[in-house]
Amino acid sequence: MAIVDLFCFLLFCHLVLILSAGYGNGHQDCPHSFTCGNLGTFHYPFTKAEKPDCGLLAIHDCDNPHQHRKMIQLELNGKGIVLIGVAQQNAISILDEDFHKRLQQNPCGTLKNNYSLPSPFSSLYSIHIKFNVTLFKCKQSLKMKPPTHYFNHPCPEYDYDIYYDSLPTPNSKEAHSLFSSCSVIQISTKDLTDTNDILSFVSAEMVLQVVLSNDCDQCYNHRGGQCRLDANQKFYCKEAPKNKSKILKLVLVLGLVTAVTIALLLVMVMIYHTRWKQKQNPTNQQIKIFLERQGPLQTKRYDYSEIKKVTNSFRNKLGQGGFGSVYKGKLPDGRYVAVKILSELKDNGEDFINEVATISRTSHINIVNLLGFCCEGSKRALVYEFMSNGSLEKFIFEENVGKTDRQLDCQTIYHIAVGVARGLEYLHQGCNTRILHFDIKPHNILLDENFNPKISDFGLAKICTRKESMISIFGARGTAGYIAPEVFSRNFGAVSHKSDVYSYGMMILEMAGRRKNIKTEVNRSSEIYFPDWIYNCLESNEELGLQNIRNESDDKLVRKMTIVGLWCIQTHPSTRPAISKVLEMLGSKVELLQIPPKPFLSSPPTSPVHLSYETL
Ligand SMILES: *[C@@H]1O[C@H](CO)[C@@H](O)[C@H](O)[C@H]1NC(C)=O
Ligand SMILES: *[C@@H]1O[C@H](CO)[C@@H](O)[C@H](O)[C@H]1NC(C)=O
Repeated sequence: MAIVDLFCFLLFCHLVLILSAGYGNGHQDCPHSFTCGNLGTFHYPFTKAEKPDCGLLAIHDCDNPHQHRKMIQLELNGKGIVLIGVAQQNAISILDEDFHKRLQQNPCGTLKNNYSLPSPFSSLYSIHIKFNVTLFKCKQSLKMKPPTHYFNHPCPEYDYDIYYDSLPTPNSKEAHSLFSSCSVIQISTKDLTDTNDILSFVSAEMVLQVVLSNDCDQCYNHRGGQCRLDANQKFYCKEAPKNKSKILKLVLVLGLVTAVTIALLLVMVMIYHTRWKQKQNPTNQQIKIFLERQGPLQTKRYDYSEIKKVTNSFRNKLGQGGFGSVYKGKLPDGRYVAVKILSELKDNGEDFINEVATISRTSHINIVNLLGFCCEGSKRALVYEFMSNGSLEKFIFEENVGKTDRQLDCQTIYHIAVGVARGLEYLHQGCNTRILHFDIKPHNILLDENFNPKISDFGLAKICTRKESMISIFGARGTAGYIAPEVFSRNFGAVSHKSDVYSYGMMILEMAGRRKNIKTEVNRSSEIYFPDWIYNCLESNEELGLQNIRNESDDKLVRKMTIVGLWCIQTHPSTRPAISKVLEMLGSKVELLQIPPKPFLSSPPTSPVHLSYETL
């Protein structure tokens, strides 16, 4: 379509160029060459008789189909000579019929006089017989007999003999001394090879070469003018008017066409390049449509250079997650943000945009807020609101607790558990598209300055290949991971929102079960399964001996979380409560809660299980 148009335009430009080039040579209205009957193509100085000003020698009847004999006029008022054809650009073959007739009838008489070529009617050119032979007409009383390579033809009735040199390259010096008393005749020849009879090669058919005078040659061939003689027969060159500006125009047209061609080529290259780029990435159109659909949402698209600026060239790394690195950044308006640079992408950009659309449609106090994204080339980044207290992980794992300046009390832990459940409930039911997280773990729970939890990192499993899935299965402390059994083995049932419930349950058990002295109480090598241990404690109504339990109400909260957690990690998805039920349980009195059956799995698998997120 557009390319065809472009091509046509280029073609047009070149046509214009060619036409203007033909027009610009100064011989206005005169053809560069012309054909005459079937005699061939003629050039200057020949011209059709109809256009006498276009050449020096006129040919008649070129365009007359009824006249097969095309005549050339070699003398001003002389007879026409029959044209036989064109030999070279400036040479023609002619037949002098009169001479021919006389040669046939009386050769000796005909050769009595020099063959006289018609004399040119101007000094602008000269005519030569191209293939001529020199004959010597000598009195019979020639003193010295010529050598044998000279043939002779006696003309008894005229009292002379005619000699000619049969050698292909006659020696003019020798001839000059031999025939000094003879007269010289130059005459056209057909063929010198196989004859000793003069008459068989003298020919009335001859090739005439027209040679321009130097002036005329300069004028016509170099200055593009026409050769003319003024009233005093003085030469002048009639140049095309404004010839110089024509040349200038030609140069301009040439330059313009070249420039336009180059510009168009560049445009084409650019179009191809962007098309190629757009094939690699979601089209800008797609992103635009997506952004339009978002309406006044604050999801903003960032250039990669902006991302770099916001993160101060990725100076402040907050952490490394399964999907990439997270950097702290500051928006131009002063807000702090967490910028997640995604790595290990498996998407073509489309999935990314779809996920961004999904994520940005979520809006809940317990869901981390997506402020913007970057999708440029192979670069993908997500810009989240900054959570000043980081991830929950560092508050509940023993080895991290020492690093934080604040210990979370039971009330806060409980508040976080409820908040995460609310966020999950929203993801499962509250937003228009049901979102399954599949990666609930302390790592992905972020805490704001008031320790309100916000769920992050959902929707990314689809667009990233994850390196660290094993960490999710086997918790950092040798506890079971957070991933529901059905996720890595379909024998346990279908993957569903109950899989998130499982992860949630495992997480609140972790949160509730921060033991005071993990190293002495639990022997890692014996691989005591944490849920088993906590279940046993619960069943025997033993004191849990957990950290930070200062009073009865703390103990009640921890018990409640433990019971709910154990319900959540039931092996069969159907026995797990939905997340809304979880919220109900967390809100009710601990005395009213039923102790769940002991979880079926007594120990997590010890060999790594390979998870494939593609099957989700
Ligand atoms: C004969 O041929 C020679 C060489 O081509 C040329 O210079 C000369 O002018 C010719 N003679 C005539 C009468 O045209
Ligand atoms: C015949 O013509 C040639 C060439 O034009 C010239 O050289 C020669 O002298 C002429 N001969 C006579 C007898 O006029």
